[in-house]
Amino acid sequence: MGSTPTSSSSSSVSSSDANSWLVRGLFAAGAALAVASGAYLALSLPRFSKFRSQVVGIIPARYASSRFRGKPLVPILGKPMIQRTWERAKLATTLDQLVVATDDEKIAECCRGFGADVILTSESCRNGTERCNEALQKLRKKFDIVVNIQGDEPLIEPEIIDGVVKALQADPDAVFSTAVTSLEPEDASDPNRVKCVVDNHGYAIYFSRGLIPYNKSGKVNPHFPYLLHLGIQSYDAQFLKIYPELSPTPLQLEEDLEQLKVLENGYKMKVIKVDHDAHGVDTPEDVEKIESLMRERNLS
Ligand SMILES: *[C@@H]1O[C@H](CO)[C@@H](O)[C@H](O)[C@H]1NC(C)=O
Ligand SMILES: *[C@@H]1O[C@H](CO)[C@@H](O)[C@H](O)[C@H]1NC(C)=O
Repeated sequence: MGSTPTSSSSSSVSSSDANSWLVRGLFAAGAALAVASGAYLALSLPRFSKFRSQVVGIIPARYASSRFRGKPLVPILGKPMIQRTWERAKLATTLDQLVVATDDEKIAECCRGFGADVILTSESCRNGTERCNEALQKLRKKFDIVVNIQGDEPLIEPEIIDGVVKALQADPDAVFSTAVTSLEPEDASDPNRVKCVVDNHGYAIYFSRGLIPYNKSGKVNPHFPYLLHLGIQSYDAQFLKIYPELSPTPLQLEEDLEQLKVLENGYKMKVIKVDHDAHGVDTPEDVEKIESLMRERNLS
């Protein structure tokens, strides 16, 4: 599965019935292997690659999120958000192990309750990447790839997780992989929506909170396939060890975007294009939004 070259053309991003949700989920599996709008060729993945074969998925979860205390435990249609994310991630076929990394006993207890493996990390972790790195060191087994699965995307498709893993497995030159989807025109000027541009081979050129590329008319070009960055990232395990240690870089500091540090240091980052509605939960209001969306789509 998954080695058919596909090109992801512009697709409906906001359909609402349950069936098309499923189809789109499957579509993402194919689309995950292709990259922006047929602009470059899809990868053909080796079926039994021994390269970077051992994969761990880590869901970093902290209780005291600055914007939303206790966020991982907030119920979404009656189930804690972290459980929803975990259940989705569990469906990914490329993960040899899936763990929750947290510094919080309440979160740990909740996760053990629904059957998750939990790694306790120290409170001093300053971000999800550091938490992933600490969790990786505490795991008994050796892994080649770490997927950082954001706990606040309870509707993450397992196919997207598999897509970023396969992209990294297929590309020895890349140390990092991540995903993008089509940017909705109304999000063009939202600095919290991070935009991305890629080269002909599907490597990231740059990420920005501003609109890139910028049309000389000064307006959003309705015909340009702008790309929105999704939070999911996977790293080569060796790279993850040094990533938090790399000194901050000028573009990273100016844009306040961690991933720019990777590019500014000359590392290659593979980007896959997927069909996905981003429904991140950042505020208590987002919970209601996501619940009504799930009701519409008959997801429970
Ligand atoms: C800018 O956007 C317009 C549409 O708004 C498009 O026709 C044009 O090709 C784009 N690029 C340039 C260089 O103007
Ligand atoms: C995480 O936090 C550390 C310390 O502030 C910082 O050096 C690092 O760049 C941050 N991000 C990543 C991805 O490591």
